[in-house]
Amino acid sequence: MDSDNKKILEPTSSYAEQVLQDDEMLRQLDGYLQMQHVYNAAIREVTTKLQILDEEFQCRYDHNPIHHMEARLKTPRSIVAKLRRRDEEVSADSARRHLTDIAGIRVICCYIEDVYRIAELLLHQDDVTLIRKSDYIKEPKENGYRSLHLVVQVPVYLSHRTEHVPVEVQIRTEGMDFWASLEHQMRYKSSRPVSSDLQRQLRECAEDLAEIDRKMQRIYKHLQ
Ligand code: GTP
Ligand code: MG
Repeated sequence: MDSDNKKILEPTSSYAEQVLQDDEMLRQLDGYLQMQHVYNAAIREVTTKLQILDEEFQCRYDHNPIHHMEARLKTPRSIVAKLRRRDEEVSADSARRHLTDIAGIRVICCYIEDVYRIAELLLHQDDVTLIRKSDYIKEPKENGYRSLHLVVQVPVYLSHRTEHVPVEVQIRTEGMDFWASLEHQMRYKSSRPVSSDLQRQLRECAEDLAEIDRKMQRIYKHLQ
């Protein structure tokens, strides 16, 4: 047995190392739990704001702009993968500093005008700050993806401090959502590479759905 191995077997040093490792692990877990709490709170705040707007529209105009909403916290696995992809340190603190999509809300609207109305009313609120906006409806992605993305920041009031927490809000119509689900499945769930013909067909579907969205919007307007 060489001298290095002897060192590892010394009870005092290995015990000290173990305690240090456990402490570090506890610190990381604690950081993650705190982060989960704060980001969940931010999701609840933004969801409540959107629900209140939807209910107001129901009362005033007998119309619900929001069909439904989905919310999710990014999983620890995806957080770590994204930090690694970006060559950033992997820790709860680094995730808070570098990622703006830990908290995500998807808002599925009935009509295109509802998408913009909901975005405008949310951004108009005093405690909502716009960090980033990407309008993939006006400028769809190459593959046909359409959606309005906002990263907003909202205050979460804790016992001893206020945290300003980013939330990614994706707003889209039911048609855009239908399309995005299939595209996502094709990209991540398919075991074989997707042929260029299938990609072309999917791009066509995105355009057909966009045309249907516009037609439905026009018909709906005639009912007003
Ligand atoms: P990410 O590193 O993926 O977060 O990219 P980004 O920060 O440049 O943001 P982007 O606005 O491109 O996309 C953010 C999210 O929008 C993704 O995580 C998906 O949920 C959704 N998204 C963006 N592009 C596509 C797409 O082409 N297809 C589908 N299905 N979803 C998309
Ligand atoms: Mg993102």
